[in-house]
Amino acid sequence: MKHAAVLGTGSSMPKRVLTNADLEQMVETSDEWITSRTGIQTRRIAGEGEQTHLLAARAAEKALLMAKISAEEIDLIVVATITPHKIMPSCACFVQSEIGATKAFAFDLNAACSGFLYGLDLADKYILNRPDMKILLIGAENLSARVNWKDRNTCILFGDGAGACVLSSKKDGAGIIDSNLFSDGTLWQLLHMDSPQSLNPDLVEEIIDDSYILMSGKDVFKHAVRAMEDAIKGLLKRHGLSTSDIALMIPHQANIRILNKLVNRLGMPQENVYINVDRYGNTSAASIPIAIDEANRQGKINKGDLLLFCSFGGGFTWGSLLMQW
Ligand code: COA
Repeated sequence: MKHAAVLGTGSSMPKRVLTNADLEQMVETSDEWITSRTGIQTRRIAGEGEQTHLLAARAAEKALLMAKISAEEIDLIVVATITPHKIMPSCACFVQSEIGATKAFAFDLNAACSGFLYGLDLADKYILNRPDMKILLIGAENLSARVNWKDRNTCILFGDGAGACVLSSKKDGAGIIDSNLFSDGTLWQLLHMDSPQSLNPDLVEEIIDDSYILMSGKDVFKHAVRAMEDAIKGLLKRHGLSTSDIALMIPHQANIRILNKLVNRLGMPQENVYINVDRYGNTSAASIPIAIDEANRQGKINKGDLLLFCSFGGGFTWGSLLMQW
């Protein structure tokens, strides 16, 4: 059986850097509070020419270049995002047009911070069926457009950016091994964001712009640690593996305290976990592909390495995935 393997990676970050010192001028907070509670020191904020589809397209172009594949050869584009600049057409269709992927079909995937993991699983299923298929999978977000910059509980956490992978089958045995994905819609209220206008204006007396990210931080924290731990342990057990078999874990980058707790419970060496939440904050669906691209370009991933991915996000959605590089 042929599985989806990574042929190339790319990422694109907005130019503007927002520091904790900048946030001290915007809400009642401090660098010390943010750093000690989240590990985040800076995040990137999209400006002119850096909307979701444009960041996505730039990340895609870099991944194509590394894969030595032209945009015209791509069969499918999937963009994992919760912040497309338009609901319709999809962000993926804009990327298709932007990069000239003329023969691809294209659609978006919404699984919040787990979007890229769900996308990897989806790509694997397409490639199992048609091993020569070439898929461009992107995670891209413009969360700064949907953050309430007056709410210190949330505005310190999120950032913008995009990451991409070109996927197809390889002859050398590399590729996705298995995944362990979950959702629980009953807990949606703990982390959510309305559409800008989610009701017919004729039916409501007052339109309340409730389109910001809303979160019950402590509940999300507790669920995130437990859920990712279970998803990882279940997946490793299924394959008779332990954390010592993992060359590198690339988790969703939400918060350093969540990650430290998770890593302690798994008994994993800290140096085998890729972390960039300090520089970018939580970029939702973009966080895993940005981290993959950075780790890849820094030479932290080698051929044959066993990689472990995990994520947790709104929905709730969560899971883990194993891949041989
Ligand atoms: N600066 C200073 N004080 C802040 C603050 C900020 N940016 N944000 C909140 N506070 C205050 C609160 O108002 C509260 O004050 P009070 O005790 O006077 O009411 C106090 O700090 C403690 O708030 P609390 O919510 O208990 O903090 P916490 O220790 O739970 O940390 C989070 C808050 C958000 C950092 C933490 O809950 C968290 O990381 N949750 C997970 C978030 C996440 O990763 N979400 C995305 C998952 S994909």
